[in-house]
Amino acid sequence: QIYARIIATGSALPERIVTNADLEKIVDTSDEWIRTRTGIRQRHIAADGETTGDLAFLAAQRALEAAGVKASELDLIILGTTTPDIIFPSTACLVQHRLGANGCAAFDVNAACSGFVYALGIADKFIRSGQSKKVLVIGAETLTRMVDWTERESCVLFGDGAGAVVLEASNEPGIYATCLHADGGYKHLLYNPVGVSVGFKDEPNHGVRINMSGREVFKVAVKTLDSLVEETLQAAGMVESDIDWLIPHQANLRIIEATAKRLKMSMDRVVVTVDKHANTSSGSVPLALDYAVRSGKVQRGQTLLLEAFGGGFTWASALLRY
Ligand code: ACO
Repeated sequence: QIYARIIATGSALPERIVTNADLEKIVDTSDEWIRTRTGIRQRHIAADGETTGDLAFLAAQRALEAAGVKASELDLIILGTTTPDIIFPSTACLVQHRLGANGCAAFDVNAACSGFVYALGIADKFIRSGQSKKVLVIGAETLTRMVDWTERESCVLFGDGAGAVVLEASNEPGIYATCLHADGGYKHLLYNPVGVSVGFKDEPNHGVRINMSGREVFKVAVKTLDSLVEETLQAAGMVESDIDWLIPHQANLRIIEATAKRLKMSMDRVVVTVDKHANTSSGSVPLALDYAVRSGKVQRGQTLLLEAFGGGFTWASALLRY
C-alpha cells in the first residue's frame, strides 16, 4: 500500500507583531476581553506589499530545505488560501515559479480556514493513486487585508502567516485517513460580501471585509468538530488514546479546549499557537504543526490529528503518523 508521508515542515510569519495592547489604541477593546474570550495575546501582520505568496514562498523554501528535496523534484503543489495575491494566476503558480518547480501541476484551494487540511486531503489522494510522488502542500493567508479595523467583533481575531509540508510516497504510514466536508447553507454566518463577479463597492477597502456572526460560528464549530473527530477516528480504525497530539485550527482557545475534552485529551497533548499567531485561517494548522515539530514536541512515529473549521462552512481533518 502507498501512503503519503510528511517528510518535513516549514513556516513563515511577518515580522511585525501587533499585541492586544496595540489594538486597545485603535478600537474599543481590552487585552483582558481578547485573552479570556479567545486566548489570543498577539498576532503577526504583513507589511505593506508583503503578500500571501511571499509568506508561502518562505514557508515552502524552509520545508524543502528541511526535507532535503529540490523544488525540481516536486510533481504537485497545492496551496490553501482565501487571500490569493491576485485573482489569477493562482498563488500556487506564483510560488511554483519562484521556487523553480516549473512544469509540475499547481493550484489553489479555497476552503477558508480549512484550506490547508483540504489541500492535504487532496494531496493524499494524488499520492495514494500513484499520480504523484513528491508534493508540496502550503496553507498561506494575509487575512488581515480583509479586516475592518473599526469592527472590534472581528478585527481582534486574525493574523497573517503561512505553513508548508513536503509529502512523499512511502510504504510506511503516513496519512491514515482524511475527512472533508462543507455546508454552503451556513454562508450567511461567515462571509466576504464582495468579489469579481458580484462586484466591488465604493466603500473602505472596496467593501472587502469579514462578515461574521461570532457566537453562532462558535456553536456550530464546536458541535461539528465533535462529530468530525469521531468520524476521523472511525475512518482510521483508531480510538482516542491512539492520538499523541491534537493539532487543531487556531481560531479560539475555547473551541480548541472543547475538542480536546471530546477526545479526552489533556491540554498538554494539544498544540496551541493561537496566543501567538491568532487565527491565520489556512496558515493556522501548518504553522502549529511546524512549531510543534521544530520545538521538539512532535516526534517521528507519533500519531497526529489535524482538524480545521471555517467559512462555507467547511471542515476537514487528517489523522496521520508523523
Ligand atoms: N472587545 C471587547 N468587547 C467585545 C469585543 C472586543 N473585541 N468583541 C465583542 N465584544 C462584546 C460584544 O459587543 C458583546 O457585548 P454585549 O454583551 O454588551 O452585547 C460581548 O462582548 C460578548 O460578545 P459575544 O460575541 O457574545 O462574545 P463571545 O463570547 O461569543 O466571543 C468570539 C466572541 C470571540 C468572536 C467567539 O464567538 C468566537 O471565537 N467565535 C468563533 C468565530 C471565529 O473564530 N471565526 C473565525 C473563522 S471560523 C473559525 O475558525 C471557527
